[in-house]
Order: sequence, then C-alpha cells, then structure tokens
Amino acid sequence: MGQRFEVEPLDWETEFLPRFKDLWRPGEHVSIIAPTGEGKTVFAGGLIEACRKYALALDVKGGDSSLESFGFPRFEKWPGQKSAGELCARNDEEGRPSRYVVGNRARTHADLDKLVDTVNRCLWDAYEMGGWTIYADELLVLTDPRQPFDLRGTVDKILVAARDRGISFVGSYQQPSWVTPMAGRQASWVVVSRNRNIDVVNGLADILGRPKAEIRGAFKGLEKHHWLIAGRDASAPMMLTTPTYKPKVAP
Ligand SMILES: Nc1ncnc2c1ncn2[C@@H]1O[C@H](COP(=O)(O)OP(=O)(O)OP(=O)(O)O)[C@@H](O)[C@H]1O
Ligand SMILES: [Mg+2]
Repeated sequence: MGQRFEVEPLDWETEFLPRFKDLWRPGEHVSIIAPTGEGKTVFAGGLIEACRKYALALDVKGGDSSLESFGFPRFEKWPGQKSAGELCARNDEEGRPSRYVVGNRARTHADLDKLVDTVNRCLWDAYEMGGWTIYADELLVLTDPRQPFDLRGTVDKILVAARDRGISFVGSYQQPSWVTPMAGRQASWVVVSRNRNIDVVNGLADILGRPKAEIRGAFKGLEKHHWLIAGRDASAPMMLTTPTYKPKVAP
C-alpha cells in the first residue's frame, strides 16, 4: 500500500506566517523540536513577532544572543502583574505590541538566583493574567530537576490548564524524551527540523499520531533551517518553510 507523504512548501513571509496566524488559536501550544544550532530560537522569534501581540520570551540561559536579535525590550526584573497590565494597556493605546524578553543576564550565582526568581514570578503572573504567549526557550533547562529552575510542576500546570486562559506555550527542546511528556501531549502544533535520531522520529510519530514511515519520508531532503509544521489533524499535509533570517543589529 502506498504511503502518503504530503508536504506543502510555503514561503515564510507571504504564505506561511499569514496562514499560521489564522490557524494558531489562543490557548494552543507549540513544540519546536530540533538539535542545537538548527534555528529553533530564530523560528520562534519570527513566529511570535508575526502572530502574537502579547508575548513573554523567557531567557533561561541568562543572555542568549539569538533572543537578543528578536529586538523585544527586556525585563531584567519581572515588574509584577499590576505594572505589566498597565504597560500592556499603554502599549495598546499607542498601537505597540507587548512583547518582551524576560530575565537578567546571569554571570554569577547571585545573578542566577535573581534569574530563577524572575522567571518563576513571571510564569505565575502570566498564568493568572491570561492572554500571554509564553516562549520557553530550552524547555529542558527550565524543567530539569538538576538545573536551578526545576519548574516542571509549574510548566505542566500551564500546559494542561492554560488553554482556558488563552495562554499559548511555545517550548523548544532537542528531544521529546528529555522533557516533560506534557510538552508533546498538550501541543496543538509541532515544529521539527531534519533529524535522524530514531528516538526523535518515534517520539514524533507518537506525538503526531502519524506513521513512522511518514515522518521519516517527510524528513528526507530537508536542509538546514528547513522546518516541518504539523498539527493534530494527521490527514492534513505538513507545512514546510524556512524563516527569513535577519540578524538585528543592536542599537
Ligand atoms: N532560517 C535561517 N536561515 C539562515 N540562518 C539561520 C536560520 N535560522 C538560524 N540560522 C542561523 O543559525 C544560528 C542558530 O540559530 P538559533 O540560535 O535559532 O538555533 P537554536 O536551535 O536555537 O540553537 P541553540 O540550541 O544553540 O539554542 C543563527 O545564529 C543563524 O546564524
Ligand atoms: Mg536557541
């Protein structure tokens, strides 16, 4: 029996982003899965800039240069719910988006303590406020019990319960087996780059409910910085696109 490997190539700016903006409903989560250096952060930044007005990108590395290139203003300290709400209202009035990078640059242990506190408070407030898209760059760093954040419980709660609050969680990671299974299970959209790792292929087939052969077939011919985007409808073709990479020069 012939297997269908339907992949639809779409130009990033003129085709993919406008379409995804319509498809990606508030409360739907996105998982971006790829090895290091494939362009997860670049993809997420472009996606959020085009599709979301209210966004918080957590800088769990304490100074990720790719996050810097988003050009979002940075909260070195989380301002708290009330101030964040007021800031959004002012931005709305003045026709500006409310998109921020959250976290101080961390060099010392004291910086790291501050970063953990800032990210933790930001997550809880964002959860209570609703309406935000939260980007957890490097989900493993945020949820691993051996790392200082150790926020798996909080992340799971947001992944499961945030839909009703219009919160979309965008998480990037290298392998499904390295992070909370909720990241895959609760994702409405999965974004993947070429990958030969059998655990990743099997994990993806599992998350997406598509045959392993289809996933392997779709990966064939993918080049660096090419992305496949799949939703929960296993009969819909996967989308294929490459972000336009525009490094922003710091002012
Ligand atoms: N669409 C693209 N077109 C051209 N170059 C790209 C593209 N996406 C990413 N790159 C290049 O690859 C580099 C790595 O991208 P990025 O930091 O987004 O990867 P990553 O998967 O988040 O890596 P890490 O695991 O280190 O966080 C970028 O600095 C850029 O030079
Ligand atoms: Mg990255």
